[in-house]
Amino acid sequence: MQPALVVLGSGFHTPARDRLEVLADCAFIVDGTGRIADVIRPEDPRQQALAAWAEAQGVLHRLPADAWLIPGLVDLHVHAPQWPQLGKALDAPLEVWLQKYTFPLEARFADPDFAAEVYDDLVRSLLAQGTTTAMYFGSVHKRPNLILAEACLRHGQRALVGKVAMDDPATCPAFYRDADAATAIAETRAFIAELRAMQGEDPLVLPVITPRFIPSCTDDLLEGLGQLARETGCHVQTHASESDWAAGYVRDRLGCSDCTALDRFGLLTDRTVLAHANFIDGNDMALMAQRGAAVAHCPMSNAYFANAIFPVRRALEAGVEVGLGTDISGGFSPSILDGLRHALMTSRHLGRGADPTLPPEARGTGEAPLTAVEAFWLATAGGADALSLPVGRLAEGQCFDALVIRANLPGSGLRHFPGADRPEELFEKIVLTADRAAIGDIWVQGRKVR
Ligand code: GUN
Ligand code: FE
Repeated sequence: MQPALVVLGSGFHTPARDRLEVLADCAFIVDGTGRIADVIRPEDPRQQALAAWAEAQGVLHRLPADAWLIPGLVDLHVHAPQWPQLGKALDAPLEVWLQKYTFPLEARFADPDFAAEVYDDLVRSLLAQGTTTAMYFGSVHKRPNLILAEACLRHGQRALVGKVAMDDPATCPAFYRDADAATAIAETRAFIAELRAMQGEDPLVLPVITPRFIPSCTDDLLEGLGQLARETGCHVQTHASESDWAAGYVRDRLGCSDCTALDRFGLLTDRTVLAHANFIDGNDMALMAQRGAAVAHCPMSNAYFANAIFPVRRALEAGVEVGLGTDISGGFSPSILDGLRHALMTSRHLGRGADPTLPPEARGTGEAPLTAVEAFWLATAGGADALSLPVGRLAEGQCFDALVIRANLPGSGLRHFPGADRPEELFEKIVLTADRAAIGDIWVQGRKVR
Protein backbone atom coordinates (compact mmCIF):
# COMPACT_ATOMS: atom_id res chain seq x y z
CA MET A 1 0.00 0.00 0.00
CA GLN A 2 1.32 3.42 -1.02
CA PRO A 3 0.18 5.98 1.57
CA ALA A 4 -1.63 8.94 0.01
CA LEU A 5 -1.05 11.07 3.09
CA VAL A 6 1.03 10.86 6.25
CA VAL A 7 0.15 13.22 9.09
CA LEU A 8 2.87 13.53 11.69
CA GLY A 9 2.05 14.88 15.14
CA SER A 10 0.05 14.29 18.31
CA GLY A 11 -3.65 13.68 18.70
CA PHE A 12 -6.50 12.83 21.03
CA HIS A 13 -9.46 10.52 20.60
CA THR A 14 -11.94 8.65 22.78
CA PRO A 15 -12.23 5.07 21.46
CA ALA A 16 -14.72 4.25 24.25
CA ARG A 17 -17.13 6.44 26.21
CA ASP A 18 -14.94 6.55 29.31
CA ARG A 19 -11.52 6.28 27.68
CA LEU A 20 -9.24 9.04 26.46
CA GLU A 21 -6.28 7.96 24.36
CA VAL A 22 -3.39 10.38 23.95
CA LEU A 23 -1.65 9.69 20.64
CA ALA A 24 1.70 11.40 21.21
CA ASP A 25 4.01 11.99 18.21
CA CYS A 26 2.34 9.49 15.91
CA ALA A 27 2.35 9.03 12.15
CA PHE A 28 -1.22 8.73 10.85
CA ILE A 29 -1.03 6.78 7.59
CA VAL A 30 -3.91 7.40 5.16
CA ASP A 31 -4.39 5.19 2.10
CA GLY A 32 -5.68 6.14 -1.34
CA THR A 33 -9.29 5.42 -0.36
CA GLY A 34 -9.17 7.90 2.54
CA ARG A 35 -8.95 5.26 5.27
CA ILE A 36 -6.46 5.19 8.12
CA ALA A 37 -4.15 2.31 7.25
CA ASP A 38 -2.08 2.56 10.42
CA VAL A 39 -1.20 4.75 13.39
CA ILE A 40 2.53 4.38 13.95
CA ARG A 41 3.96 5.24 17.37
CA PRO A 42 7.26 7.11 17.80
CA GLU A 43 9.02 4.06 19.26
CA ASP A 44 8.20 2.01 16.13
CA PRO A 45 11.34 1.94 13.92
CA ARG A 46 9.15 2.23 10.78
CA GLN A 47 8.05 5.74 11.69
CA GLN A 48 11.21 7.58 10.69
CA ALA A 49 11.61 5.81 7.38
CA LEU A 50 7.95 6.35 6.49
CA ALA A 51 8.10 10.04 7.35
CA ALA A 52 11.23 10.46 5.22
CA TRP A 53 9.59 8.60 2.33
CA ALA A 54 6.41 10.69 2.65
CA GLU A 55 8.41 13.91 2.72
CA ALA A 56 10.24 12.94 -0.47
CA GLN A 57 6.90 12.07 -2.13
CA GLY A 58 5.35 15.38 -1.04
CA VAL A 59 2.60 13.65 0.97
CA LEU A 60 3.86 14.46 4.47
CA HIS A 61 1.80 16.82 6.60
CA ARG A 62 3.65 17.85 9.73
CA LEU A 63 1.39 19.41 12.38
CA PRO A 64 2.58 22.87 13.46
CA ALA A 65 3.70 23.52 17.02
CA ASP A 66 0.92 23.54 19.61
CA ALA A 67 -1.44 21.60 17.36
CA TRP A 68 -3.38 18.36 17.96
CA LEU A 69 -5.32 16.13 15.66
CA ILE A 70 -8.84 15.10 16.77
CA PRO A 71 -11.59 13.16 14.99
CA GLY A 72 -14.03 15.24 12.96
CA LEU A 73 -17.19 16.35 14.78
CA VAL A 74 -20.52 14.64 14.07
CA ASP A 75 -23.74 16.67 14.08
CA LEU A 76 -26.72 14.30 14.17
CA HIS A 77 -29.43 16.90 13.74
CA VAL A 78 -29.46 19.93 11.44
CA HIS A 79 -32.45 21.52 9.66
CA ALA A 80 -30.73 22.82 6.54
CA PRO A 81 -33.54 25.17 5.44
CA GLN A 82 -33.60 26.78 8.89
CA TRP A 83 -30.05 28.15 8.42
CA PRO A 84 -31.30 31.71 7.67
CA GLN A 85 -33.22 31.57 10.97
CA LEU A 86 -30.21 30.77 13.18
CA GLY A 87 -30.21 33.01 16.25
CA LYS A 88 -33.73 34.42 15.92
CA ALA A 89 -37.42 33.60 16.30
CA LEU A 90 -36.98 31.69 19.57
CA ASP A 91 -39.80 33.52 21.37
CA ALA A 92 -42.54 30.90 20.92
CA PRO A 93 -43.20 27.30 21.96
CA LEU A 94 -42.49 24.55 19.40
CA GLU A 95 -46.03 24.20 18.02
CA VAL A 96 -46.34 27.97 17.50
CA TRP A 97 -42.75 28.39 16.23
CA LEU A 98 -43.35 25.78 13.52
CA GLN A 99 -46.47 27.44 12.12
CA LYS A 100 -45.45 31.07 12.61
CA TYR A 101 -41.81 31.07 11.50
CA THR A 102 -40.49 27.73 10.36
CA PHE A 103 -42.98 26.35 7.84
CA PRO A 104 -43.14 29.71 5.97
CA LEU A 105 -39.31 29.81 5.80
CA GLU A 106 -38.93 26.18 4.71
CA ALA A 107 -41.61 26.71 2.02
CA ARG A 108 -39.30 29.24 0.34
CA PHE A 109 -36.88 26.42 -0.55
CA ALA A 110 -39.16 25.46 -3.41
CA ASP A 111 -37.01 28.09 -5.17
CA PRO A 112 -33.82 26.25 -6.26
CA ASP A 113 -31.82 29.48 -6.51
CA PHE A 114 -32.58 30.36 -2.90
CA ALA A 115 -31.74 26.79 -1.85
CA ALA A 116 -28.43 26.85 -3.75
CA GLU A 117 -27.35 30.11 -2.11
CA VAL A 118 -28.31 29.12 1.45
CA TYR A 119 -27.03 25.54 1.27
CA ASP A 120 -23.63 26.48 -0.13
CA ASP A 121 -23.15 28.87 2.78
CA LEU A 122 -24.45 26.33 5.31
CA VAL A 123 -22.14 23.51 4.25
CA ARG A 124 -19.08 25.76 4.16
CA SER A 125 -19.96 27.22 7.56
CA LEU A 126 -20.48 23.86 9.27
CA LEU A 127 -17.25 22.46 7.83
CA ALA A 128 -15.41 25.50 9.18
CA GLN A 129 -16.85 24.67 12.62
CA GLY A 130 -15.24 21.23 12.40
CA THR A 131 -18.42 19.32 11.50
CA THR A 132 -17.15 16.66 9.11
CA THR A 133 -20.36 14.59 9.26
CA ALA A 134 -23.81 16.19 9.30
CA MET A 135 -27.24 14.56 9.31
CA TYR A 136 -29.62 16.97 7.58
CA PHE A 137 -33.36 17.41 7.45
CA GLY A 138 -34.00 19.12 4.11
CA SER A 139 -37.34 20.58 3.05
CA VAL A 140 -40.43 18.90 1.59
CA HIS A 141 -39.24 19.57 -1.99
CA LYS A 142 -37.18 16.93 -3.79
CA ARG A 143 -34.90 18.93 -6.12
CA PRO A 144 -33.63 21.45 -3.51
CA ASN A 145 -32.57 18.55 -1.28
CA LEU A 146 -30.42 17.25 -4.13
CA ILE A 147 -28.92 20.75 -4.32
CA LEU A 148 -27.98 20.37 -0.64
CA ALA A 149 -26.37 17.00 -1.39
CA GLU A 150 -24.45 18.58 -4.29
CA ALA A 151 -23.12 21.27 -1.94
CA CYS A 152 -21.89 18.56 0.47
CA LEU A 153 -20.16 16.71 -2.39
CA ARG A 154 -18.65 19.93 -3.79
CA HIS A 155 -17.19 20.98 -0.44
CA GLY A 156 -16.36 17.45 0.71
CA GLN A 157 -18.60 17.13 3.76
CA ARG A 158 -19.80 13.66 4.76
CA ALA A 159 -23.55 13.92 5.08
CA LEU A 160 -26.89 12.22 5.37
CA VAL A 161 -29.71 14.12 3.69
CA GLY A 162 -33.44 13.58 3.98
CA LYS A 163 -36.41 14.85 2.03
CA VAL A 164 -38.85 15.85 4.78
CA ALA A 165 -42.15 13.98 4.57
CA MET A 166 -45.24 15.64 6.10
CA ASP A 167 -48.74 15.18 4.74
CA ASP A 168 -51.32 15.62 7.50
CA PRO A 169 -53.63 18.53 6.57
CA ALA A 170 -54.70 18.76 10.24
CA THR A 171 -51.23 20.00 11.25
CA CYS A 172 -49.40 21.04 8.07
CA PRO A 173 -50.36 24.22 6.18
CA ALA A 174 -51.57 23.95 2.57
CA PHE A 175 -48.54 25.97 1.39
CA TYR A 176 -46.09 23.50 2.91
CA ARG A 177 -46.88 19.80 2.83
CA ASP A 178 -46.83 16.74 0.63
CA ALA A 179 -50.01 16.44 -1.44
CA ASP A 180 -50.84 13.09 0.21
CA ALA A 181 -49.17 9.99 1.63
CA ALA A 182 -48.69 8.29 -1.74
CA THR A 183 -46.99 11.38 -3.19
CA ALA A 184 -44.70 11.74 -0.17
CA ILE A 185 -43.65 8.09 -0.41
CA ALA A 186 -43.07 8.27 -4.17
CA GLU A 187 -41.03 11.48 -3.84
CA THR A 188 -38.95 9.99 -1.02
CA ARG A 189 -38.31 6.89 -3.14
CA ALA A 190 -37.28 9.03 -6.12
CA PHE A 191 -35.04 11.18 -3.91
CA ILE A 192 -33.23 8.09 -2.61
CA ALA A 193 -32.69 6.75 -6.14
CA GLU A 194 -31.49 10.10 -7.54
CA LEU A 195 -29.08 10.76 -4.67
CA ARG A 196 -27.64 7.26 -4.98
CA ALA A 197 -27.28 7.66 -8.75
CA MET A 198 -25.21 10.83 -8.25
CA GLN A 199 -22.39 8.84 -6.61
CA GLY A 200 -20.30 5.72 -7.06
CA GLU A 201 -19.39 2.72 -4.92
CA ASP A 202 -18.34 4.51 -1.73
CA PRO A 203 -20.83 7.39 -1.40
CA LEU A 204 -20.05 10.38 0.83
CA VAL A 205 -23.69 11.50 1.02
CA LEU A 206 -26.40 9.04 2.06
CA PRO A 207 -30.17 9.39 1.73
CA VAL A 208 -32.34 9.35 4.87
CA ILE A 209 -36.03 8.53 5.23
CA THR A 210 -37.38 11.56 7.09
CA PRO A 211 -40.91 11.71 8.48
CA ARG A 212 -40.84 15.14 10.20
CA PHE A 213 -42.54 13.83 13.35
CA ILE A 214 -45.65 11.80 14.03
CA PRO A 215 -47.90 14.87 14.52
CA SER A 216 -47.24 16.02 10.93
CA CYS A 217 -47.66 12.59 9.27
CA THR A 218 -50.72 10.41 8.62
CA ASP A 219 -50.64 6.73 9.56
CA ASP A 220 -50.59 5.85 5.85
CA LEU A 221 -47.42 7.89 5.34
CA LEU A 222 -45.66 6.40 8.39
CA GLU A 223 -46.64 2.90 7.27
CA GLY A 224 -45.32 3.51 3.75
CA LEU A 225 -42.05 5.02 4.95
CA GLY A 226 -41.51 2.05 7.28
CA GLN A 227 -41.96 -0.24 4.28
CA LEU A 228 -39.50 1.90 2.29
CA ALA A 229 -36.94 1.68 5.14
CA ARG A 230 -37.15 -2.13 5.00
CA GLU A 231 -36.89 -2.11 1.22
CA THR A 232 -33.96 0.31 0.86
CA GLY A 233 -32.00 -0.21 4.10
CA CYS A 234 -31.74 3.58 4.41
CA HIS A 235 -31.16 5.52 7.59
CA VAL A 236 -34.28 6.99 9.23
CA GLN A 237 -34.55 10.29 11.12
CA THR A 238 -37.45 11.95 12.89
CA HIS A 239 -38.29 13.90 16.04
CA ALA A 240 -39.59 11.94 19.03
CA SER A 241 -40.97 12.84 22.46
CA GLU A 242 -39.48 16.31 22.21
CA SER A 243 -41.92 18.38 24.28
CA ASP A 244 -44.98 17.86 26.48
CA TRP A 245 -47.14 18.97 23.57
CA ALA A 246 -45.45 16.72 20.97
CA ALA A 247 -45.40 13.61 23.17
CA GLY A 248 -48.98 14.28 24.34
CA TYR A 249 -50.18 14.64 20.76
CA VAL A 250 -48.89 11.17 19.88
CA ARG A 251 -50.35 9.63 23.04
CA ASP A 252 -53.78 11.17 22.31
CA ARG A 253 -53.76 10.07 18.67
CA LEU A 254 -52.15 6.63 18.87
CA GLY A 255 -52.46 5.71 22.54
CA CYS A 256 -48.76 5.01 23.02
CA SER A 257 -45.33 6.61 23.14
CA ASP A 258 -43.45 7.88 20.08
CA CYS A 259 -40.96 4.99 20.29
CA THR A 260 -43.67 2.31 20.43
CA ALA A 261 -45.54 3.92 17.54
CA LEU A 262 -42.41 4.29 15.38
CA ASP A 263 -41.55 0.67 16.08
CA ARG A 264 -45.02 -0.48 14.96
CA PHE A 265 -44.55 1.48 11.72
CA GLY A 266 -41.15 -0.18 11.11
CA LEU A 267 -39.29 3.07 11.65
CA LEU A 268 -37.24 2.13 14.71
CA THR A 269 -34.14 0.43 13.29
CA ASP A 270 -30.42 0.31 13.98
CA ARG A 271 -30.12 3.12 11.43
CA THR A 272 -32.71 5.36 13.11
CA VAL A 273 -31.82 8.64 14.80
CA LEU A 274 -34.49 10.21 17.01
CA ALA A 275 -33.98 13.90 17.66
CA HIS A 276 -34.45 15.09 21.27
CA ALA A 277 -36.28 12.11 22.85
CA ASN A 278 -36.44 14.03 26.13
CA PHE A 279 -39.57 12.35 27.42
CA ILE A 280 -38.71 8.72 26.64
CA ASP A 281 -39.23 6.41 29.63
CA GLY A 282 -37.47 3.21 30.70
CA ASN A 283 -39.58 1.07 28.36
CA ASP A 284 -38.79 3.33 25.41
CA MET A 285 -35.07 3.18 26.26
CA ALA A 286 -35.18 -0.62 26.45
CA LEU A 287 -36.95 -0.79 23.08
CA MET A 288 -34.45 1.59 21.48
CA ALA A 289 -31.52 -0.38 22.88
CA GLN A 290 -33.02 -3.60 21.52
CA ARG A 291 -33.50 -2.10 18.05
CA GLY A 292 -30.15 -0.26 18.05
CA ALA A 293 -31.82 3.12 17.51
CA ALA A 294 -30.03 6.31 18.57
CA VAL A 295 -30.80 9.70 20.10
CA ALA A 296 -29.58 13.03 18.74
CA HIS A 297 -29.18 14.95 21.99
CA CYS A 298 -29.83 18.65 21.31
CA PRO A 299 -29.33 20.41 24.66
CA MET A 300 -29.54 23.96 23.35
CA SER A 301 -32.86 23.66 21.60
CA ASN A 302 -34.25 21.59 24.47
CA ALA A 303 -33.83 24.64 26.70
CA TYR A 304 -36.25 26.51 24.40
CA PHE A 305 -38.74 23.87 23.29
CA ALA A 306 -38.66 21.01 25.79
CA ASN A 307 -38.54 22.67 29.20
CA ALA A 308 -36.75 19.53 30.23
CA ILE A 309 -33.26 18.04 30.08
CA PHE A 310 -32.60 14.80 28.20
CA PRO A 311 -31.37 12.25 30.79
CA VAL A 312 -28.27 11.40 28.80
CA ARG A 313 -26.59 9.22 31.43
CA ARG A 314 -29.77 7.21 32.03
CA ALA A 315 -30.09 6.58 28.29
CA LEU A 316 -26.43 5.58 27.89
CA GLU A 317 -26.65 3.23 30.83
CA ALA A 318 -29.79 1.67 29.33
CA GLY A 319 -27.72 0.86 26.25
CA VAL A 320 -29.16 3.57 23.97
CA GLU A 321 -26.77 5.01 21.38
CA VAL A 322 -26.41 8.79 21.78
CA GLY A 323 -24.66 11.55 19.85
CA LEU A 324 -25.09 15.32 19.65
CA GLY A 325 -27.12 17.61 17.41
CA THR A 326 -27.16 21.38 17.02
CA ASP A 327 -30.82 21.31 15.88
CA ILE A 328 -30.21 24.40 13.79
CA SER A 329 -32.28 26.60 14.22
CA GLY A 330 -34.01 25.42 17.39
CA GLY A 331 -30.44 25.59 18.71
CA PHE A 332 -28.70 28.93 18.16
CA SER A 333 -25.12 27.74 17.59
CA PRO A 334 -23.76 25.93 14.54
CA SER A 335 -20.90 24.50 16.61
CA ILE A 336 -20.82 20.97 18.02
CA LEU A 337 -18.09 22.21 20.38
CA ASP A 338 -20.74 24.58 21.79
CA GLY A 339 -23.20 21.70 21.77
CA LEU A 340 -20.96 19.46 23.84
CA ARG A 341 -20.53 22.25 26.40
CA HIS A 342 -24.29 22.67 26.65
CA ALA A 343 -24.55 18.90 27.10
CA LEU A 344 -22.04 19.14 29.94
CA MET A 345 -23.82 22.07 31.62
CA THR A 346 -27.33 20.66 31.32
CA SER A 347 -26.23 17.28 32.69
CA ARG A 348 -24.89 19.16 35.72
CA HIS A 349 -28.19 21.01 36.15
CA LEU A 350 -30.16 17.76 35.86
CA GLY A 351 -27.98 15.83 38.29
CA ARG A 352 -27.22 18.54 40.80
CA GLY A 353 -30.39 20.61 40.47
CA ALA A 354 -31.43 24.15 39.70
CA ASP A 355 -33.87 25.67 42.21
CA PRO A 356 -31.92 27.24 45.10
CA THR A 357 -34.99 27.20 47.38
CA LEU A 358 -34.79 23.38 47.53
CA PRO A 359 -32.37 21.59 49.86
CA PRO A 360 -29.29 20.25 48.03
CA GLU A 361 -30.32 16.59 48.29
CA ALA A 362 -33.73 17.29 46.71
CA ARG A 363 -32.52 19.74 44.07
CA GLY A 364 -31.39 17.35 41.31
CA THR A 365 -31.83 13.73 40.22
CA GLY A 366 -28.54 12.75 41.84
CA GLU A 367 -27.19 11.25 38.60
CA ALA A 368 -23.52 11.85 37.86
CA PRO A 369 -22.97 14.65 35.33
CA LEU A 370 -21.12 13.94 32.08
CA THR A 371 -17.34 14.07 32.17
CA ALA A 372 -15.20 15.93 29.62
CA VAL A 373 -14.19 12.59 28.08
CA GLU A 374 -17.83 11.50 27.74
CA ALA A 375 -18.88 14.82 26.19
CA PHE A 376 -16.07 14.60 23.63
CA TRP A 377 -17.02 10.98 22.90
CA LEU A 378 -20.64 12.05 22.25
CA ALA A 379 -19.41 14.66 19.76
CA THR A 380 -17.23 12.17 17.86
CA ALA A 381 -17.38 8.39 18.33
CA GLY A 382 -20.87 8.42 19.89
CA GLY A 383 -22.31 10.24 16.89
CA ALA A 384 -20.45 7.93 14.51
CA ASP A 385 -21.76 4.82 16.27
CA ALA A 386 -25.29 6.24 16.14
CA LEU A 387 -24.93 6.35 12.35
CA SER A 388 -23.02 3.05 12.08
CA LEU A 389 -20.32 4.89 10.10
CA PRO A 390 -16.57 4.13 10.40
CA VAL A 391 -15.59 7.62 11.59
CA GLY A 392 -15.14 9.31 14.97
CA ARG A 393 -11.88 7.61 16.01
CA LEU A 394 -8.25 8.00 14.92
CA ALA A 395 -7.66 4.29 14.46
CA GLU A 396 -6.77 1.80 11.75
CA GLY A 397 -9.67 1.04 9.43
CA GLN A 398 -11.52 4.28 10.14
CA CYS A 399 -12.11 6.93 7.49
CA PHE A 400 -9.68 9.81 7.92
CA ASP A 401 -12.16 12.51 9.01
CA ALA A 402 -10.13 14.74 11.29
CA LEU A 403 -9.31 18.28 12.25
CA VAL A 404 -6.43 20.16 13.75
CA ILE A 405 -6.92 22.10 16.98
CA ARG A 406 -4.34 24.83 17.53
CA ALA A 407 -3.57 26.41 20.89
CA ASN A 408 -2.37 29.92 21.69
CA LEU A 409 -3.63 31.53 18.50
CA PRO A 410 -4.68 35.16 18.84
CA GLY A 411 -8.45 35.40 19.24
CA SER A 412 -8.83 31.91 20.70
CA GLY A 413 -9.57 31.05 24.32
CA LEU A 414 -7.53 27.83 24.09
CA ARG A 415 -4.26 28.55 25.90
CA HIS A 416 -1.59 25.91 26.42
CA PHE A 417 1.16 26.24 29.03
CA PRO A 418 3.42 23.26 28.40
CA GLY A 419 5.02 23.58 31.83
CA ALA A 420 1.62 23.54 33.56
CA ASP A 421 -0.70 21.40 31.39
CA ARG A 422 -0.37 17.62 31.30
CA PRO A 423 -1.76 16.11 28.04
CA GLU A 424 -4.97 15.03 29.84
CA GLU A 425 -5.39 18.60 31.12
CA LEU A 426 -4.83 20.03 27.68
CA PHE A 427 -7.55 17.67 26.43
CA GLU A 428 -9.89 19.09 29.08
CA LYS A 429 -9.01 22.60 27.92
CA ILE A 430 -9.83 21.64 24.34
CA VAL A 431 -13.21 20.29 25.44
CA LEU A 432 -14.06 23.43 27.39
CA THR A 433 -12.35 26.23 25.43
CA ALA A 434 -11.48 25.23 21.84
CA ASP A 435 -13.37 27.62 19.60
CA ARG A 436 -13.74 28.42 15.92
CA ALA A 437 -10.47 30.39 15.97
CA ALA A 438 -8.61 27.30 17.22
CA ILE A 439 -9.65 25.10 14.27
CA GLY A 440 -6.96 24.56 11.63
CA ASP A 441 -6.84 22.08 8.75
CA ILE A 442 -9.76 19.70 8.22
CA TRP A 443 -9.91 16.43 6.27
CA VAL A 444 -12.86 14.27 5.25
CA GLN A 445 -12.17 10.80 3.82
CA GLY A 446 -8.51 11.80 3.50
CA ARG A 447 -9.35 14.85 1.38
CA LYS A 448 -8.32 18.25 2.74
CA VAL A 449 -11.48 20.32 2.81
CA ARG A 450 -10.06 23.34 4.60
N1 GUN B 1 -40.52 18.99 15.52
C1 GUN B 1 -41.03 18.98 14.29
N2 GUN B 1 -40.35 19.79 13.46
C2 GUN B 1 -39.37 20.34 14.21
C3 GUN B 1 -38.31 21.25 13.93
O1 GUN B 1 -38.15 21.75 12.82
N3 GUN B 1 -37.49 21.55 14.97
C4 GUN B 1 -37.64 21.01 16.22
N4 GUN B 1 -36.78 21.33 17.17
N5 GUN B 1 -38.63 20.17 16.49
C5 GUN B 1 -39.48 19.83 15.50
FE1 FE C 1 -35.23 19.42 15.00
